[in-house]
Amino acid sequence: MGLFKQNVAIDLGTSTVLVCVGHKGVVLKEPSIVAVKTNTRNIVAIGEDARQMIGRTPDDVTTVKPIQNGVISSFTITKKMIRFFLNKALSNPLKRIFLPDVILCVPSKTTNVERRAVEQAAQDAGAHRVFLVEEPLAAAVGAGLDISRPSGHMIVDIGGGTTDIAVISFDGIVTSKSVKVGGNDFDETIKNYLKRSRNLMVGDTTAEYVKIEAGCLYEGVRNDSVEVHGSDILTGLPSEYVVTSQELAESLVSTALPVLDGIRAVLEETPPELAADIYTKGILMTGGGSLLAGFDELIRKTTGVEAFVADEPQYCVARGSIEILNRMSKNKKDAYGIKR
Ligand SMILES: Nc1ncnc2c1ncn2[C@@H]1O[C@H](COP(=O)(O)OP(=O)(O)OP(=O)(O)O)[C@@H](O)[C@H]1O
Ligand SMILES: [Mg+2]
Repeated sequence: MGLFKQNVAIDLGTSTVLVCVGHKGVVLKEPSIVAVKTNTRNIVAIGEDARQMIGRTPDDVTTVKPIQNGVISSFTITKKMIRFFLNKALSNPLKRIFLPDVILCVPSKTTNVERRAVEQAAQDAGAHRVFLVEEPLAAAVGAGLDISRPSGHMIVDIGGGTTDIAVISFDGIVTSKSVKVGGNDFDETIKNYLKRSRNLMVGDTTAEYVKIEAGCLYEGVRNDSVEVHGSDILTGLPSEYVVTSQELAESLVSTALPVLDGIRAVLEETPPELAADIYTKGILMTGGGSLLAGFDELIRKTTGVEAFVADEPQYCVARGSIEILNRMSKNKKDAYGIKR
């Protein structure tokens, strides 16, 4: 690898894009949002600048999320977004002359067509070589697991729009399932709860704030409260309400059920030897959604398997991806079922 040749990992998430460069760790973290002119589709802003515009712009500017449930929904916009973030992360112009090798992660159930789209987007955005890695493998490596042994691990990666459940062993995925429920669905549940039972209308940002400040999935693990400001649905006037962790726990738990069902289904499909490993080691939770208080406890109580949240779970996929690419360029060999 040349002096200026860079390794870059991009976690193209539904809510957040993370970029790791070389051995520097996460150097960029921005919302996966792009603001475009409604009529021309010309890009006005990308990332954090675009997020600031949500709900605050005239009709001729629309904000789009080019990644939906972990897959590209708008190819052209995704390409431009990747290029923008790549250039921002590789701020030294000298380094941009030497096109970086880029590793991107894809959810385990991504189709070949979708894989090629992601790959092409990175290629067009200015990558030298592009590698794809399955998200659960990256998450496990990023959480510090040694997955190279023939021993079973279960990873539950709870993102913004989806939850990826996978059993891995010997650097590969044995069984997996993707559930279309993620952290954002809890925001939606909070919005509906406040509207239905408190006549209070709040926006997405407020709902997420409530979730982070007082949200809870298992009664008793948290006892916080937060003052919510919104508008009264009957009068339309500003209104407020103090919501507690306890009432949130009651209303949020049903939203988590598909995740619990998914875990049970994957466990049922897991060969007995690997299932025994998982019962011994527990379930590893990654992704920002796993920070919702009580999620681990809910999984423990409903599946009977120990569950624990990784350190800084929202960074596991990005950190694991760069580690895999760095190891590959050091050992000059492909691993982890990486497709080129
Ligand atoms: N402290 C917290 N408590 C609860 N939820 C949190 C917390 N921090 C982040 N989240 C939630 O995590 C989710 C985003 O997680 P993450 O960044 O892993 O998603 P992503 O990788 O962009 O999405 P995906 O993997 O689905 O494509 C959001 O719903 C966010 O509200
Ligand atoms: Mg993710």
